[in-house]
Amino acid sequence: VKLQKFVDKLPIPKTISPIKRDKKGSYYEVAMREFTQKLHRDLGPTRLWGYNGMYPGPTFDVMKGETSYVKWMNDLPKKHFLPIDTTIHGAEKTVPQVRTVVHLHGGKQHDHSDGYPDAWFTRNFEQIGPKFQRKVCEYPNLEATTLFYHDHTMGITRLNNYAGLGGFFIIRDEHEQSLNLPVGNYEIPLMIQDRSFNPDGSLFYPATPDKNNHRLPYPSIVTPFDADYILVNGKVSPYLQVEPRKYRFRMLNYCNSRAITLKLDSGQPFYQIGIDRGLLEKPVKMNEILLLTTERADVIIDFSLSYGKTIILKNVFKGASPETTDVMQFRVTTPLKGKDTSSLPDQLTKIDFLTTEMAIKTRDLTLIRVEDGYGRSLNLLDGKMWNDPISEKMDLGTVEIWRLINQTADDHPIHLHVVDMQILERQPFDVAHFQATGKLKFTGPAVPPEPNERGFKDTIRAPTGYVTSFIARFDPFAGLFVWHCHMLEHEDYDMMRPFEIVKKKN
Ligand code: C2O
Repeated sequence: VKLQKFVDKLPIPKTISPIKRDKKGSYYEVAMREFTQKLHRDLGPTRLWGYNGMYPGPTFDVMKGETSYVKWMNDLPKKHFLPIDTTIHGAEKTVPQVRTVVHLHGGKQHDHSDGYPDAWFTRNFEQIGPKFQRKVCEYPNLEATTLFYHDHTMGITRLNNYAGLGGFFIIRDEHEQSLNLPVGNYEIPLMIQDRSFNPDGSLFYPATPDKNNHRLPYPSIVTPFDADYILVNGKVSPYLQVEPRKYRFRMLNYCNSRAITLKLDSGQPFYQIGIDRGLLEKPVKMNEILLLTTERADVIIDFSLSYGKTIILKNVFKGASPETTDVMQFRVTTPLKGKDTSSLPDQLTKIDFLTTEMAIKTRDLTLIRVEDGYGRSLNLLDGKMWNDPISEKMDLGTVEIWRLINQTADDHPIHLHVVDMQILERQPFDVAHFQATGKLKFTGPAVPPEPNERGFKDTIRAPTGYVTSFIARFDPFAGLFVWHCHMLEHEDYDMMRPFEIVKKKN
């Protein structure tokens, strides 16, 4: 299929309202359903799975400190429509095919509500996974930022997400509201994803990396998979009509695996105000923004000097195909409805950074690539499989430094649940020497975090051939959580590990 760009209007996902609200918080119910939806003018309706039958799912828009209770329900069919590799841990023939569990990405919540991969449930909760705890999840919404929720089921996360199970979750606070940033129609979330299609409009997801290799199981996982087209909020390269004024865009790379580098073809910069875990201290002017999957960039774009023009939001990531270089188009054609009174303050917030003296422990953790029994590549965290005993255990409230020693050929987006990650530095090392001796020999100076990484993150880029160091305080909740590469094709295939925050006894 060959699809024309900029023929569909950018959809803006609807905000969900609570069923009830009281002193304890707000209560919502969300059902995952199968439905069809048009993803491009020239594509037939596409079969999808979505929260409340929507793709993307409805946007939660809540205030900090107001607890949200969400009953997530699975009303999906019993059979999956994407190819399941039953050789992958957790996706064996013995478990039900269609399992779901929801994770609020970047949120700080108790482990019982964190969407542990083995806490899955099937239609009507008929069957549940070994770690299932509760039907209603509790989100305390501790900090203002752009989060999103998505499926996290063991062994099929890549497929459930690709089918459409994801949505925004925005938390606001009074401080941010006092900054007078663009709001209302001038504040728009952009969920950027890639998808491939069959000629009939159905989603294409590969069933094998190599159909001529008869040693492989069928279906067989493809690690990783980059799809053919870029969608924003569920439409292939859409357009948006804007007024000549400032807008705020909460941009999320939510491709299964693809990295993107955003750039405006008008040559104008983004004023980046926020990242994964909230506002930066000061806006930073960025000509290009690199986002690995699940990284967020909260930006202001000023269209005030562009009336009558069209501006393309490009993906200039190295090797992007012609189909995936144009993310969307802004048409600055709507007359100004009123004076733009919003501001872009010089100072946004004050961040309490962690310092290396606070750390009581440094862990060296390798990212390595090996071969599995079928000759497929298998990426591992510290050489361990998902099922190996827990090796990362720490007391609640302690600060640690983790050094990610990336010997693989990929840049991996490494995500830790529940905690805030602060990048310390990245330093290139001699991979061959390390593999031969187990000792680090640096080959260049340490590089400080980029100007738009100087705040807290929940996913950080660990480039190939570098040691990426970050510091984190392991709080605010004790319990069992996970850390993993967020390329979903890696995460599903053992590039995920549990970690446990232990409550100190005294
Ligand atoms: Cu976005 Cu462990 O997840």
